[in-house]
Amino acid sequence: MKEFNLAIIGLGNIGLEVYKNIKKNASDIKKKTGFKLNISQICAKDIKKNRGVKFSKNIFEKNIFKIINNPEIDIIVELIGGSEGVAKKVVFESIKKNKHVVTANKSLISKHGDALSILAEKHGVNLLFEAAVGGGIPIIRSIKQGLIANRLSHIYGILNGTTNFILTEMEKRNESFQTILKDAQKLGYAESNPTADVDGFDAADKISILSSIGFGSKIINKGFLVEGIRNIELEDIKFAKSLGYKIKLLAIAEKIGNKVKQRVHPCLIPNDIDVANIDDVINAVVVDGQPIGRTIYEGPGAGKGPTSSAVISDITSIMLGNDEFSFGLAPSAKKKMGLINFDNHISRYYIRFLTKDVSGVLSKITLALAKNKISIANLLQTPSKSGAANIMLITHVSKELNIKKVLRNLSINKKLFKKIVMIRVRDLKKL
Ligand SMILES: NC(=O)c1ccc[n+]([C@@H]2O[C@H](COP(=O)([O-])OP(=O)(O)OC[C@H]3O[C@@H](n4cnc5c(N)ncnc54)[C@H](OP(=O)(O)O)[C@@H]3O)[C@@H](O)[C@H]2O)c1
Repeated sequence: MKEFNLAIIGLGNIGLEVYKNIKKNASDIKKKTGFKLNISQICAKDIKKNRGVKFSKNIFEKNIFKIINNPEIDIIVELIGGSEGVAKKVVFESIKKNKHVVTANKSLISKHGDALSILAEKHGVNLLFEAAVGGGIPIIRSIKQGLIANRLSHIYGILNGTTNFILTEMEKRNESFQTILKDAQKLGYAESNPTADVDGFDAADKISILSSIGFGSKIINKGFLVEGIRNIELEDIKFAKSLGYKIKLLAIAEKIGNKVKQRVHPCLIPNDIDVANIDDVINAVVVDGQPIGRTIYEGPGAGKGPTSSAVISDITSIMLGNDEFSFGLAPSAKKKMGLINFDNHISRYYIRFLTKDVSGVLSKITLALAKNKISIANLLQTPSKSGAANIMLITHVSKELNIKKVLRNLSINKKLFKKIVMIRVRDLKKL
């Protein structure tokens, strides 16, 4: 019986859990793959850190290059994180040494995935990263293998559990973004520097990876719209609710002809539609294609249990010889696809103006909208704190560029308009 020798580099939240679960499930892995899996070497930054686990003797190797150069190692699991530095070196160098690589590192894959997949093909090894998108949801393998007979046109969903938790809790508990963010940090759902999550960058890395796999395109990792949830306040959530909408941070990719329309931004979505009811840290991905139609995948999007499940699935997939191409097709077959200019995007728009409570403000707003051919479908004015008012409206279908013009013009008047929040309405029933 062939044995596979594995090295785990990075023993934090995920690495340690992968180690424990491989040990715990060793006999199942053998039964299901037909091969024995040995954890031959492990590595972390601090060799002396108490990790609450008794490791096998002599398994800890401080020098990463001794692992990469070890001819006995078949598979290297990179669980350090970050798109540059040590993680990048580990993955590139391991492939060059003909090792299969498994990683959960979305930022590394969205930035270097094209180059890495070419290198992996050249060296005849696998580079797999199921855990980089959707945590425990096997979305990458579902698209690559389960949906192989389909031409995909649309992939969207909730790809960041932290922001979904914050938005859900703001609504449930009637608390501000800042209060819930602090709670999320205490619960370990958000990092001390929450930028990657709350400003949309994490979801952007994930949709870049999914659109590349789904549409067979080279990775589009920049130049598209990325907005987070930092600006969203309770007023926005309440107004949306009063009209039958929920606010969710969506990552969306559509293939239109030979181009891709890709973006990450909060959306108002109707209450009764699929992803509107995906709450807390749960992720969901909707995939549309032909001939299958629409499919939806839902599950825990992060955390050590779900993520280790995806990492181990990649390891066993390599053992079974199941997965050939990192992105589901030969790297040379991946097409360079351009981005669709988002200024031409058409939707309804929710806009909230926090204004000085003086006469004439509403007419300034309506005039600016009318000048740019934008008409209003719903409008509500509520008094806010002393001397201020919230004017909230939803437009009829309008063009992104025109909305941007209005917001740019009005936001210049900072004395009158203290804050402007714009959220796109996504009426999924019409898709
Ligand atoms: N956490 C999640 O829920 C989640 C979900 C999906 C994907 N991921 C991805 O999984 C990866 C790991 O995340 P994590 O949460 O486990 O991170 P983490 O807890 O910060 O762990 C990072 C590990 O890397 C080790 N490390 C750092 N620098 C190193 C170096 N120079 N040489 C060797 N080891 C080094 C650290 O060693 P010490 O322990 O000695 O400091 C630590 O064990 C990241 O790419 C992340 O994006 C995480």
